[in-house]
Amino acid sequence: QAPVITIDGPSGSGKGTIAKLLAEKLGFALLDSGALYRLTALAAIRAEADLEDEADVARIASGMDIFFDVSGEEVAVTLDEDDVTRAIRMEDVSMAASRVAALPMVRAALLERQRAFRKMPGLVADGRDMGTTVFPDAPVKVFLTASAEERAQRRFNQLQEKGVSVSLRDLLEDIRARDERDTVRSASPLRPAGDAVQLDSTELTISQVLDTVLELVRD
Ligand code: CDP
Repeated sequence: QAPVITIDGPSGSGKGTIAKLLAEKLGFALLDSGALYRLTALAAIRAEADLEDEADVARIASGMDIFFDVSGEEVAVTLDEDDVTRAIRMEDVSMAASRVAALPMVRAALLERQRAFRKMPGLVADGRDMGTTVFPDAPVKVFLTASAEERAQRRFNQLQEKGVSVSLRDLLEDIRARDERDTVRSASPLRPAGDAVQLDSTELTISQVLDTVLELVRD
């Protein structure tokens, strides 16, 4: 079995950035599991499926033809031969992703698809339940957090760079609402695995977080 490093945590904790850098540094494959939920949501919207119809959305999740290209600066995502890198990040898809992620049959349908990313020499898996449910036997598990204020500020800076104007207060409210949805849902709620190392990145730079995780890997 190839080794897996799991990076779980709430929205905006920086786990996506850390996971990508870590995979590059180690030459490991990368699983952005959030993208799978986003793809499921987009595929369901495009098929005009009822998002409450759990069996139908799960069927769509199993049947999607998807491809990830991790060679660029951001992970490029293809759905049924269509480049959906941008589309899966749109607000309506984010909302729908959070809804379909609460459906147990959808989570079950994506389980094996996620495990299929495991290959030599190793995998970095980013998500909410990588260490608890998908790869419970992973030798290195990190639970990355940061205060809600810091996470909202990071998102604010990112959007400003892209020239998008938003209010910091709205972002903070949005982050809190997502945290609430992620932790109260009954299907795979966000929580650290018993054997995960918890890392609070509020006061840390990206390279400090990366170094800390690399130390865990070397131990
Ligand atoms: O970072 P952000 O929360 O904006 O999005 P994401 O990580 O791409 O996740 C998209 C959606 O999928 C969220 O609603 C997560 O709660 C959900 N998700 C999940 O349920 N399980 C995972 N392993 C990863 C994401």
